[in-house]
Parts: sequence; structure tokens; C-alpha cells
Amino acid sequence: MASPFSIVRFLGNATRAILRGDARQLYFDVRNRLRRVDLEYVSVADLGLPADVAHFHSQSGGDLLRQVFARLPIPKGSVALDFGSGKGGAIISLHQFGFAEIRGVELSEPLVAVARENMRRLGLERARFFVSDAAKFRELDDVTHIYLYNPFPCPVVADVIRNIESSLAAAPRELHVVYRNALCQDLFDRSARFTPVSRFTRDRHEWRIWKSVTPGSR
Ligand SMILES: C[S@@+](CC[C@H](N)C(=O)[O-])C[C@H]1O[C@@H](n2cnc3c(N)ncnc32)[C@H](O)[C@@H]1O
Repeated sequence: MASPFSIVRFLGNATRAILRGDARQLYFDVRNRLRRVDLEYVSVADLGLPADVAHFHSQSGGDLLRQVFARLPIPKGSVALDFGSGKGGAIISLHQFGFAEIRGVELSEPLVAVARENMRRLGLERARFFVSDAAKFRELDDVTHIYLYNPFPCPVVADVIRNIESSLAAAPRELHVVYRNALCQDLFDRSARFTPVSRFTRDRHEWRIWKSVTPGSR
């Protein structure tokens, strides 16, 4: 059963979407609520994860994420990956695009169970989830789009970047990284494997997008 807190949060979000005239966000919120999709906030303490490797769960799916990805090239056969996929909120939005698969990598096993149940309730069949520390996840060679919503502290982001760099060296390809609330953005800026594509502030967060380059070519 929905908690009073989650109902208040839902009504607040719905009211803001109505005031902004944001029908798509309202549709996202109402549809998920009607299908009993659980995208509620969970603190790091409640997740039982150590604060030095993990941030809290908060979902970022909705129309803003759709708008950002709508501007990216998504050739046939593209594969998206959300590092720190939580309950799958962002993956619900990425499922609207023509990705062959949308993967989620999440440290918390209970959150992956919720995400899988959410996909089942929505009938989303191209989503696939992995229980793993992002720092150790190296199955990246066919991934073309990576999304991060401030999921973990900078040391973990540094390990993730090293793994992406190794993957790009082994399997050179065009890869876009979209980083929302980009607190560790300097780490991507310093990488010879990425060049900045855009930066903007929306919904109180700084967003950064990079794409892969061959080292020495920029
Ligand atoms: C802010 S939430 C984002 C959820 C989802 N990406 C979205 O945008 O809807 C961050 C998620 O990252 C997960 N996380 C934190 N540290 C992680 C790590 N080291 N490896 C994998 N997932 C992690 C948390 O459990 C949480 O679910």
C-alpha cells in the first residue's frame, strides 16, 4: 500500500507538472502510479549500502530525460546502460527509444528486484538488469549510450571511466555519456577518450554530455 508520504510526493509532482503545462511528465507519473510501479526514494541507510561507494536512490525518469536523449543519435542496434539503475525509473524513459537493449547496473539486489517487477508491470521487455558494483562492471563492449544520475562518489566514477576507456580501446565505437547532476564531471573532462558535446542546467541539475574520441584526434 502507498505510504502517505509517497501520495503527498505524487500529488506535489503532479501539481508541478500541471502548473508547467507538462502533459508528458504528468502522463509518466500517472501511468506509473496506476500500474503500481514503485519509484520511491530510498536513503543510503535504508539501502544498507556503504556511503563511500553509494548514493541514495532517487528516480530520474520522465519527460526531461526523454528530451535529452531525443537529441542524441541512436543508430539501429544501439545499447544503453544506466549505471546505478535503482528501481528502473530512467530505464522506463529510455525504453521509448529504439535501443536494442537497455541495461541497468545496480549495487542493491532488492532495488533490482523492484526494477524487474516494475518492467513486468509496464510490459517493458528490452530492459535487463545486473546486480553489480559499477566499479567492477566490465561488460561494456557493445554499449553505445551510458547514463549516470549522480549514482556514486567520484572514486567509483573514476573506476567506471577506466573500465569504459578499456572497452573503447578493445572495441572502438561511438559512445555517448549523459551525466545528470554531474558532480564528478572533471574526471570525464580529463579523459583523452572523451570530448564534451554539451552542458546545460535543467531541473536544478547540471547536465553534461560527452562522446568518445580516438586519443590524440581532438
Ligand atoms: C540517484 S539513483 C538513480 C536511479 C536511476 N538511475 C534513475 O535515474 O532513475 C542512484 C542509484 O545508484 C545505485 N548505486 C550506488 N552506488 C552504486 C555502485 N557502486 N554500483 C552500482 N549502483 C550503485 C544506488 O543504489 C541507487 O539506486
